[in-house]
Amino acid sequence: MRLEKLHLMNFKNYADAEVHLQGTIHCFLGKNGSGKTNLLEAIHYLSFTKGSFYANDLANVRHGQDQFLINGLFEKNGKRMEVACSFSSERRKNVSENGKEYSRFSEHIGKYPIVLVAPNDIELIWNGGEVRRKFFDTLLSQLDKEYLENLIRYQAHLRQRNSLLRMFADKGSIDRDLLDSYDEKIVAAGTVLYNKRAGFVQEYLPLVSARYNFLASGLTETVGLAYLSDLEKVDFKKELDGKLDRDIALGRTSVGIHRDDFLFTLNGFELKRFGSQGQQKSFLIALKLAEFDYLAVKKGSKPLILLDDIFDKLDDERIHQLMELVADGAFGQIFITDARPGRSLEVLKVAGVKSQNFSVEEGSLAELF
Ligand SMILES: Nc1ncnc2c1ncn2[C@@H]1O[C@H](COP(=O)(O)OP(=O)(O)O)[C@@H](O)[C@H]1O
Ligand SMILES: [Mg+2]
Repeated sequence: MRLEKLHLMNFKNYADAEVHLQGTIHCFLGKNGSGKTNLLEAIHYLSFTKGSFYANDLANVRHGQDQFLINGLFEKNGKRMEVACSFSSERRKNVSENGKEYSRFSEHIGKYPIVLVAPNDIELIWNGGEVRRKFFDTLLSQLDKEYLENLIRYQAHLRQRNSLLRMFADKGSIDRDLLDSYDEKIVAAGTVLYNKRAGFVQEYLPLVSARYNFLASGLTETVGLAYLSDLEKVDFKKELDGKLDRDIALGRTSVGIHRDDFLFTLNGFELKRFGSQGQQKSFLIALKLAEFDYLAVKKGSKPLILLDDIFDKLDDERIHQLMELVADGAFGQIFITDARPGRSLEVLKVAGVKSQNFSVEEGSLAELF
């Protein structure tokens, strides 16, 4: 799969910009605040029908305008596919493929897979479970429709259950039948997600481990990825019932797969507490490269890789290792951003990698020759 052309209108700081993509490695070079990340965000929209940061589409409409349009021309399995995503301030979003509008965005997700490596990836190690769940949910959603649909259902039912709990608290009484009907749906969707997450971790771990040990060149460390869930030891429905009084007082549901977590370890020690900075960085890249491997195998085609400001975050050793892979042609199309043009061009040159380069300046793009 390749993105051949990208056209942005009133998206973030782009009034009207178009790029024709040639080759497989594309560099977007420009000062901080010029619009490099915004461009990757636009590609993220084409893949996921939303941005990677906030769920708020309106914030992505260029200031003073009332709608944005993102248009991407892809080559996929020898066919040209046009994906368009538009949003207008009447708060309606449209996503279409070859002119045909989707009625449900979940039908689109997974058709144009991407892997994003971004500066805030470190949150995957340092922050709470929510970021890790989001990462694995995003990955699984690209692969498994049933996963995505159960996730959407689970989240909706959970929100409804939580408002029900607050209503019970206000009224001072419980509608048992109504609660049971929600619980039944939550348990059904939650159990599907639990089983899929557990199975996935088993398959994913060897990929992360292989990538990690390549990046850590020479040293063989034991990479661990453990799935932690409330559902591991208990009967979901019984636990929901057992915690009911407490949950009514809290106004939220305190048991379920929305509290799951994933534990990263190296040689048996928690990465967050015991890993060196270098180990943490290698682990993050390994996690993302494994995402590429997993998607490539399961989809039968290579996802796009978006590398946002990675040269800032990585030390020379890891940049060198990563570029070795890039030069190897192991990946498909790659988008690289950097605020220091000289650096990335030098790194690519040393690795013997040819790239198509663009300068980015206050929302305008120009190819560099
Ligand atoms: N909705 C918007 N309308 C206009 N400009 C925006 C909007 N959202 C973000 N920006 C601008 O985009 C710029 C940041 O772009 P970004 O792609 O993050 O830069 P970088 O090149 O550093 O990655 C900022 O100057 C910000 O003000
Ligand atoms: Mg940026």
